[in-house]
Amino acid sequence: YGDHRDLHLSLRRQRSDVYKRQQNIKVFDYWSTYIGLNENDRYLIVNPFFHTFGYKAGWLASVMRGVTAYPCPVFDADKIIQIINKEKISMLTGYDYSMAKIIDNSGIDVILVGDSASNVMAGHETTLPITLDQIIYHASSVVRGVNRALVVVDLPFGSYQSNSGEALRSAIRIMKESGAHAVKMEGGEEIKESIIRILNAGIPVMGHLGLTPQSIYKFGTYTVRAKEEEEAKRLIEDAKLLDELGCFGVVLEKIPAKISKKVTSSVSCPVIGIGAGSDVDGQVLVTHDLVGLSTEFNPRFLRRYVDLNEIMTNAIKSYIKDVKNLDFPNENEQY
Ligand code: KIV
Repeated sequence: YGDHRDLHLSLRRQRSDVYKRQQNIKVFDYWSTYIGLNENDRYLIVNPFFHTFGYKAGWLASVMRGVTAYPCPVFDADKIIQIINKEKISMLTGYDYSMAKIIDNSGIDVILVGDSASNVMAGHETTLPITLDQIIYHASSVVRGVNRALVVVDLPFGSYQSNSGEALRSAIRIMKESGAHAVKMEGGEEIKESIIRILNAGIPVMGHLGLTPQSIYKFGTYTVRAKEEEEAKRLIEDAKLLDELGCFGVVLEKIPAKISKKVTSSVSCPVIGIGAGSDVDGQVLVTHDLVGLSTEFNPRFLRRYVDLNEIMTNAIKSYIKDVKNLDFPNENEQY
């Protein structure tokens, strides 16, 4: 059919249909835009090539958008679960519209509106001062910048510890006022009732165990947790409990790799680590640390991918110099 037509075999009706190629490209370009398919996606194509949906929404869309396709010739639930299980989850923090947009467009799976905003956005020493109103402000800014990632929001210190009624009200406010998809809470057995009530209200909950910065004044230091057998045992029990209650994931912060490996093999929900080794289902970092915007925080688990502090400082110095030297604005930069 030359350049402008595709032959499409419909097996069900045992006959051939002829489609105009331009039609298909236009429709599935629109479809890809609508579902937000882009080159950062990994696309599991279960429908075979000769099936209309597998061909157009699968292969055609993948080629047009530069998506990484994972072909699966026939439906095999075990094989599909294996492929999904092998893929690690990427998670980063986000606190504002512009940064969230960059992170989302880069293809991240989950954006956490962490209470670490208290440190990196507001300059507090701990995560304790951030309020529910403030986290909602950050979360709603992030949600406006995100098209595809899952947005999880920390319940701040003091918004859920008193009782389960308060916890539920705080979680509802976050969901209602920010438009985020889920909440995260620090703790295990001691917040069980709150988790149950929040889950019963239809709000997905992510747990957080190990180093829980909201309890820093109980621990006294930010050193590695669960090194002692007793604490490790309690952590594993807490992780199992969160999993049984129905949490959709658990963050493990700063614990020995062998303990997080044990947790990961003991629970069915994904385990996301920060300073918890590689035998987990995914990794999370504070974005400001990863891009070098925060300079004083240098734990062993942190990998800095760029030194934005230096890049920005140099850019700002150049701007100051240009203003002082009357180089900015030039002829083309004015009306
Ligand atoms: O608030 C935060 O950024 C977090 C991550 C460190 C997991 O809880």
